[in-house]
Amino acid sequence: ALRGSFVTKAQKATQRSQYGLQIQASYKVAILGAAGGIGQPLALLVKMSPLVSDLHLYDIANVKGVAADLSHCNTPSQVLDFTGASELGNCLKGVNVVVIPAGVPRKPGMTRDDLFNINANIVKTLVEAVADNCPDAFIHIISNPVNSTVPIAAEVLKQKGVYDPKKLFGVTTLDVVRANTFVAEKKNLKLIDVDVPVVGGHAGITILPLLSKTRPSVSFTDEEVEQLTVRIQNAGTEVVEAKAGAGSATLSMAYAAARFVESSLRALDGDGDVYECSFVQSDLTDLPFFASRIKLGRKGIEALIPSDLEGLTEYEQKALEALKPELKASIEKGIAFVQKQP
Ligand code: NAI
Repeated sequence: ALRGSFVTKAQKATQRSQYGLQIQASYKVAILGAAGGIGQPLALLVKMSPLVSDLHLYDIANVKGVAADLSHCNTPSQVLDFTGASELGNCLKGVNVVVIPAGVPRKPGMTRDDLFNINANIVKTLVEAVADNCPDAFIHIISNPVNSTVPIAAEVLKQKGVYDPKKLFGVTTLDVVRANTFVAEKKNLKLIDVDVPVVGGHAGITILPLLSKTRPSVSFTDEEVEQLTVRIQNAGTEVVEAKAGAGSATLSMAYAAARFVESSLRALDGDGDVYECSFVQSDLTDLPFFASRIKLGRKGIEALIPSDLEGLTEYEQKALEALKPELKASIEKGIAFVQKQP
């Protein structure tokens, strides 16, 4: 039950509505950067959710067509488009969940940190508008480098006096999705059953899959652990290289982001059994932000789950210590970016 099962729960919800036990579509979701590579398929997946009544799509260009197109799908939510800074406030009013995939993606040879200069400003500006217009919303940050953009968002919200650490999330669901897929393939397991917690951050070695905590319980050789860990850490780069300059992961990312949105909506709707991994403010380690499994509830994070970090293997313990300096530096870079501004 500790599994974030987007597909099965969504299917059950659809079935329930087919049998007349009407699911109340009542939540408003905004996607900022909705015309992009992630934004478009994410908007489609969110449009399919029976829990969404209003889907607000914002971008600096090209979002009208995306909204017109999606609005023809006969699912409950009403789709509205918003273009440019002057329409951002209206896009955000009354929204329950804001998802931010706005910004530039990587090209071959780039690290996520290379995106900092452009995306830091974009995230700062967008989160300022969130603070002004829907300070109670769950905020899902997808724009990279997540290890820095989440601390940036936190600082902006603090400056605005509306920071609620229980409602700010760095989206690391794709790392979990990848880990689940690769482990199921390697071990010949049924995909739907596999759940691997991924902790730390969302870049290179800061991505730490805890393979020893895989459910169902499964054993790996040292070689398998090394190979799977490295593949999960570099999976984003695998896609960047295959796309050869045309961007980074968009479809798998949209799938992962939609799962995190659905989990958040279920939590808002009172489901008491919603767990996901996410990069959040945390006291599980000595770092101020850390990705771990969290329990979601109506008010955001109900609990951080410390048990995954107990009884680590020697490999995992070493990897955890090794990732801390890099993650710490990325967090501090984000905080400094906001604090140094007038
Ligand atoms: P994209 O370039 O296809 O789309 C980005 C969209 O953001 C564009 O439509 C653009 O017009 C829009 N945008 C730019 N500035 C904006 C602003 N100020 N306000 C609103 N929208 C703005 O990029 P893609 O592939 O969709 O990636 C988006 C971000 O997601 C990148 O930073 C990428 O690194 C990140 N990403 C994160 C992942 C994760 O696991 N958290 C995985 C994959 C990508």
